[in-house]
Order: sequence, then structure tokens, then C-alpha cells
Amino acid sequence: MKPVKVGLLGLGTVGTGVVRIVEGHQEDLQRKTGSPIVIEKILVQHMEKDRNISISSSKLTDNPNDILDNPEIDVIIEVMGGVELAKEYILRALDNGKHIVTANKDLVALHGKEIMDRAANKGCDIFFEASVAGGIPIIRTLVDGFSSDRITKIMGIVNGTTNYILTKMSQEGAAYADVLKEAQDLGYAEADPTSDVEGLDAARKMTILSTLGFHASVALSDVEVKGISQVSKEDIAYGKKLGYEVKLLGIAESKDDHIAVSVQPTMVKTSHPLASVNGVFNAVYVYGESVGETMFYGPGAGELPTATSIVADLVAVVHNLKLGVNGRETFKPYKETKMKTDEQ
Ligand code: NDP
Ligand code: HSE
Repeated sequence: MKPVKVGLLGLGTVGTGVVRIVEGHQEDLQRKTGSPIVIEKILVQHMEKDRNISISSSKLTDNPNDILDNPEIDVIIEVMGGVELAKEYILRALDNGKHIVTANKDLVALHGKEIMDRAANKGCDIFFEASVAGGIPIIRTLVDGFSSDRITKIMGIVNGTTNYILTKMSQEGAAYADVLKEAQDLGYAEADPTSDVEGLDAARKMTILSTLGFHASVALSDVEVKGISQVSKEDIAYGKKLGYEVKLLGIAESKDDHIAVSVQPTMVKTSHPLASVNGVFNAVYVYGESVGETMFYGPGAGELPTATSIVADLVAVVHNLKLGVNGRETFKPYKETKMKTDEQ
């Protein structure tokens, strides 16, 4: 049984979770895939940083060539974030025949098609389950689970940081800035938390979900976005008095070949299931013409939930390696679609 060798780009919140799961579940993973999985090298920015995981220093490198050009490495897991450098590294890795797993929604929302086309040309896998809704396997569900249906609407809470903030403001009357700091300390927020609070992170995720769900070319710039930075404690308290919770909702609808995608703070009736999705949890409703209404719920961010999705992708890559096939086709729009915003 030849080991499958992995190069990890990044050892922050998510990268640390990946190492913990690959090491902690090694025996199970080996039974499931038929191969030992070895994290061969890890790219970091600051070699001297104190890490909350014990890792042999010989595994760490600050030179991307040690991973991208390393013929021993079969799979790259990209969890460093950012767009341009991550894209450059992923394209280089694909050119070198390596399979990719990424959690990078910024990159997938902006350059998903280009990267997936390159992967297809090179006969490589690219999986990105962790890019939307952390530990909820929503991408697999949309692409595989609903492949027989026509999706008409996708709606939900897809950002853990803002849901954590809104929950604490609602339940404890906490101040916005204090709770944002807590979410950052817990590792939920993006490196630049403006992406979370201004709704951009949710918009990136809705771009990915609507592209996959509607088989259409939805661009990030097509999404109408409003974040929560202007939502006050008073707004939340007033809503509660009237029987509503404020939630940052992403809503994507496809009707008569028109698509509309938005992210905005929304008053949700307390009797609606989305009103009781609290803290870092996310929930995604998917409506299909045949299936009707379905709902998926789980942790939307954080070390181990996110790493769970990443390592599940890694297992999928290893299975494909064994079978000599490549992964599911994903960004392959076949619908001529007009965005509602084009016509306003
Ligand atoms: P962190 O900021 O915690 O970690 C980033 C890691 O990447 C660090 O180890 C850092 O090195 C390394 N890194 C960053 N830039 C470079 C560079 N130029 N060269 C080499 N190494 C670099 O981020 P997260 O773990 O929180 O997030 C990683 C990715 O996962 C992002 O794309 C994020 O959007 C996504 N994601 C995050 C979730 C979460 O809950 N946090 C959930 C779902 C997705 P060093 O440690 O030396 O500083
Ligand atoms: N910052 C993101 C969030 C991480 O809070 O949802 C998970 O994608």
C-alpha cells in the first residue's frame, strides 16, 4: 500500500484541524481508502511562530517550491487564503499533475471556472467542500444529491461569524465590536473580517452555491450585498419585540431563466427554523422542483468542522486515485441565464 502524500499550504485554524484529523483518524482513513495518508510538507509564512499543535520542524517550509515542485506529493490542500497567490500556487500544482482540495471561497467564487477547467485539462481533481458552510456537506449535496432535480431556490445563513455576532447581540445584548473580537479569537472570522461583516464572504458562498445549483454562470459582482455593520442592538431588540430575529440571509432564486442572488440582514419570524439557527451554526434551504423543500444544518466555521469537510474531499481524491478516475464535474454551466440585476 503506497502512501498518499499530501502538501498542506497553510497551518492556521483550518490547516491545524486538517493535521489533527489526518493524524487522529489515520487508522480509519487507511481502512476506508486502502492507503496510509501522510502529510509530507506544510507551507507557512512565519517559520518561528508558536503553534498549538506539535509538528516536526522538518515538515515546515516557507518555500512553496518544496511542495509545488515536489514529485513525491500527490495532493495539495490549500488553506492559506487570499486570492492571487493561492491561484498561482494552485495552477502551478495542477500543471505539475497534483490534485487539489481547497477551502478558499474567495478564489473559487472569482476564478472557479478557470481553475476547474485547468484541472480537467490536466486530469486532476479539484474539490472545495469546505468553501461553503464549513462542516455541512452542502456542495456534495447540491452536485450529487440533487443531480436528478431542478433547483429553484437556495436560501440560508452561510456565514458563521455574523451569525455568532447577531446571536450574541440578540441573546445577551452584547456590543457588536466585542463579539466580533470573540469570533476572531475563536478562529471563525476571515483574515480581514470586513469580508464577514459586510456580507462579502456570504456573497462568495452564494455565488458558488447558485453556480452549482442552477448550472449557470453567476458572477460575484451579480450578487446584491448588504452586511450587518449597520445593524444596531436597538434594531435587534425592536425586531424581537415584534416577533422577529435579525439574520444575515443569502437568497438565490432561479425562475423562468432569470436568476437573482442577494445577501442582506433580514427579519425572520421567530417561528421560522432559520430564526433558531444560533452562534456559529449555518443552515441552507434547498428547494427542488421534485423534492420540494430540504434543509441542511451544522457548524459553519471553525477548526475541526471545516477540516472534516477538507479531509472528506481528500478521501474522495484518494478513492479517485485508486479507481484511476477524476472527480465530479462542477462549474459546468449549461443554462443561458439572465441575472435579474442586468435588467434593472
Ligand atoms: P489562518 O489565517 O488561520 O491561517 C492561514 C495560514 O496560511 C497560516 O498558517 C499562514 O502562515 C499561512 N499563510 C498565509 N499566507 C501565506 C503565504 N503567503 N505564504 C505561506 N503561508 C501563508 O486562516 P484560516 O485557517 O482561518 O483559513 C484558511 C482558509 O480557509 C481561508 O481561505 C478561509 O477563507 C478558509 N476557511 C476558513 C474557515 C474558518 O473557520 N477559519 C472555514 C472555511 C473556510 P503562518 O501560520 O506562518 O502565519
Ligand atoms: N469566516 C467564515 C465564516 C469562515 O464565518 O463563516 C467559514 O467560511
